[in-house]
This record gives sequence, structure tokens and C-alpha cells, in this order.
Amino acid sequence: MTISANIIGASGYTGGDLLRILVTHPEVEVKAATSERFAGEPVKKIHPNLRSFVDYNFVSVKEIKEADVVFLCVPHGMAAPYVEQYMDSGTKIVDLSADFRLHNPADYPKWYGHEHPKPELLKKFVYGLPELHREQIKKSNYVACPGCLSTTSILSLAPLAKEKLLDPNGIVIDAKIGSSGGGAAFDISTHHPERVGVVRSYKPTGHRHTGEIEQELGELQGAKFGVAFSPHAVELVRGILATCHVRLNKQVKEVDIWKIYRSFYKDSPFVRIVKEKEGHYRYPEPKLLAGTNFFDVGFELDSHVNRLVVMGAIDNLVKGSGGQAVQNMNLMFGLDEKTGMWRPGLHPI
Ligand SMILES: NC(=O)c1ccc[n+]([C@@H]2O[C@H](COP(=O)([O-])OP(=O)(O)OC[C@H]3O[C@@H](n4cnc5c(N)ncnc54)[C@H](OP(=O)(O)O)[C@@H]3O)[C@@H](O)[C@H]2O)c1
Repeated sequence: MTISANIIGASGYTGGDLLRILVTHPEVEVKAATSERFAGEPVKKIHPNLRSFVDYNFVSVKEIKEADVVFLCVPHGMAAPYVEQYMDSGTKIVDLSADFRLHNPADYPKWYGHEHPKPELLKKFVYGLPELHREQIKKSNYVACPGCLSTTSILSLAPLAKEKLLDPNGIVIDAKIGSSGGGAAFDISTHHPERVGVVRSYKPTGHRHTGEIEQELGELQGAKFGVAFSPHAVELVRGILATCHVRLNKQVKEVDIWKIYRSFYKDSPFVRIVKEKEGHYRYPEPKLLAGTNFFDVGFELDSHVNRLVVMGAIDNLVKGSGGQAVQNMNLMFGLDEKTGMWRPGLHPI
């Protein structure tokens, strides 16, 4: 099988990493990588890591021809017009933006500050977290990939939600994220002198990804969630670590938590439980995940204050965007979800 793919927004960070994965994917041929700013210029000028793999130029979105799948790697609010254009054309759509992640149209004004332009299309999209919705994704032509912080947070807590163990108002998530999470567009807050060395709290309340986290945990547990989510910008380029402090609504032993996580993720090749007794890397560490599609999760019970601490880590540009998009595409086309991505990370790095 050869799957033809177009990438809209290929000059950005998610589009670039998606392209990095697709150029060695055994079943995919990239037909077009778009950029309006760099149309006609070599892709390797913007993504120099792709030298020897990509010898074509960016094209304008107006020039692209039909393909089996289109990836939308565009800013929030820019994907909806493309979805309207491609829907029902026979092209499968994998959207990396936030435009189709929330099921309830009322959640868009709440978390994004505007009405959804096409609320009737929301129900056509599956939330593209394979570990939760694998069977739906396989049958779907339209997948909305989760946010990177949401991916880390939801996967950290999903097994507990499935067991209805979470106190829906007893969750505090403290997340750290690297600078690539903000995309390639210039912003003074991500300019090197302003960004280097920071441990910056940038959205201690009201972060948009909270809506997705509450949606997915709520559906799993069958309850309405109020999650306290606070992200921080830290001295990393790639990577997220989410430390989730949760209250459980019944007493459990460590052995039970092991069983719950092992059982929930038994068919999820990209999930690893990391909880070692010895060594430098006893818990999930984003540094070890750079360039990979793995989600690592670990936990510790704190009987002193009746708390469970769950740590989840990913590379935001792979499992948090481009890799997850390919994992979804693999499922949508009946391939093994690992195809093109089954490789370890670097150590040391
Ligand atoms: N960065 C992350 O870690 C991450 C993780 C998960 C999801 N996401 C989401 O993924 C999307 C892309 O993020 P990013 O970090 O890759 O952003 P980025 O680096 O700023 O790239 C944005 C891309 O979109 C293109 N673009 C902008 N407006 C467009 C339009 N109207 N039509 C076509 N192309 C357009 C830009 O291309 P030209 O200006 O060159 O045309 C550029 O290639 C966002 O919705 C973001 O929220 C990002």
C-alpha cells in the first residue's frame, strides 16, 4: 500500500516533525508540503535535519492536488476552513489543531473565547488518542489529534478514570513544557534571551487544554470533572512532564495501581510504565523520549497525605503531535500503529 499525503502547514514545528516521520514511513509518499511564506523554497532550508531525505520545495496550499490523507498542522482557528473543503472529498483528515477536539460546541467559547464556526462538524471527528479510542479511529475518516499537554495529562490518569477511582474535583496537574510547544512563529516571550533559563508559570489557571482533559476523563469515568491544571515553561526544547496530584475515592494499594495501569495499557505499544527502584531515571523523563512516540508513566502512593502522584512524559512534537498524527493515520489505513515509528530514543542525550 502507498498512502499519498499532503501536509498543510509544513514549515512549522509540528508539520516539520510530521514530515521527518513520514519521509521514512514505509507506506507513505508525501505529495506536498505547504507553506505560504516559503512557497518555492527548498524544504531543507527550513528543516535542515531533512537533508538527503527531502529534495523538493514547499508549495502554496493553492497548488496541492488530491491525496489519500491531509494533515492540518495550522494554528488554532485555521483548520476549520480546510476541513470544510476536504470533508466528503474522499480524503481522510488528520487535524493537529484544536478546532475539532471538543465535542460540545459550548466548550469553544468557554476555552477558546469564540463560537465554533462549524459546530455541526464536531461530531464527525474522533478524538485522536489511540490508547482511548483505537477502534473508533480505525473506522473514522476524520480525526482530531489531542493537544500535547492534554495527551500527557489524559494518558497519565485514564486508567484510574476507567476504574472510577478519581475524585473528579481532587486533581491538580502541574505540567512543564519545552519551548517548541509554542510553535515556530516568533513571539517575544519565546525569544532566546527571554526564554533561556526560565521556569515560568505562564497560564496557572484557565489553560485551554483543561477542556480536553475534563472531556476525556469525564467520559471514561462517567462523571463531571473540574481539573486544576497549571503549565510551566521550562528550559527544554522538546518535552513535557506532567505531575498529577490526585485524590482517590477509595483506598488502594500500590499493587492495585500496577495492575490497573498494566491492564489498561496492555495493547498500547507506545506506553511504558516507568517506576524503578534504582538508577538515575526511576520515573518518566522527557529527555529520554526526545524524537520518539513513547508516553512514559510512573506513580507513587503518598499515604502520608492520602495522595497518588502520577508522572507522565512525552516529546510534545512526537507523541504530542506529529507522531500521534502518524499513529492515527496508521490505524485509519489499517496498518500496525507502530509503522514508521518503532525505534528507541537516544541515550545519552
Ligand atoms: N508545537 C506543539 O508542541 C504542538 C503540539 C500539538 C498540537 N499543536 C498544534 O498544531 C498546530 C501547529 O502548531 P505548530 O507548533 O506547528 O505551529 P507553527 O510552528 O507556528 O506552524 C504553523 C504552520 O501553519 C502554517 N499556516 C498558518 N496559517 C495558515 C493558513 N491559514 N493556511 C495554511 N497554513 C497556515 C504556517 O505556514 P506558513 O506561515 O509558512 O504558510 C506554519 O507552517 C497548532 O494548531 C498547535 O496548537 C502544536
